[in-house]
Amino acid sequence: MSDGASSIERMLLSREVIEERVKELAGEVIGAVRDNPFVVCVTLRGAFMFAADLVRHLPQEMEIAFVRAASYGGGTSPQHEPVIEIPDDVEFEGRQVLLVEDIVDTGRTVSALRNALLARGASRIRICTFLDKPVRRQVPVEPEFIGFALQGDPFVVGYGLDHGGRFRNLPYVAVLKV
Ligand code: PRP
Repeated sequence: MSDGASSIERMLLSREVIEERVKELAGEVIGAVRDNPFVVCVTLRGAFMFAADLVRHLPQEMEIAFVRAASYGGGTSPQHEPVIEIPDDVEFEGRQVLLVEDIVDTGRTVSALRNALLARGASRIRICTFLDKPVRRQVPVEPEFIGFALQGDPFVVGYGLDHGGRFRNLPYVAVLKV
């Protein structure tokens, strides 16, 4: 078993900084999303930790759903839309959705999820991402709520984000040694 920290270069966002910003971000969401109830869609797997912290600061009545956008591994077809999994037992017709992501990179995942949720009848979809990497964008997506915008293209892990399945459990965000 690895020690889980051997490839960490440096801490980028401490636990305290994250806690403070997530609280602030929740305030922004509270001010903007007035629908009662609304649906919080948590994108698996990376967004689980951010979403768990965020919703604790949201007093609105809400339903929580877990969604997934799986890209085909191997990269034989980079243009291929991710395969979307949205639970059938959640009603989206006419409802406002807060789509929660750990990171928006190329934008393909949130874009595909947004299209799928609109097709399910959602009336409005707002994207709330913990991290944003605008320099990597391939699909024009502008999240309404952003925890931290990253400068450049660092490989970050922790607070839900992984590298080969590792590091998701770190309570802080770190830059990986590459
Ligand atoms: C990561 C991340 C986002 C997506 C962002 O998910 O959690 O969902 O990639 O990238 P994009 O903007 O280029 O689409 P990943 O597919 O690694 O799955 P995971 O959350 O289970 O780690």
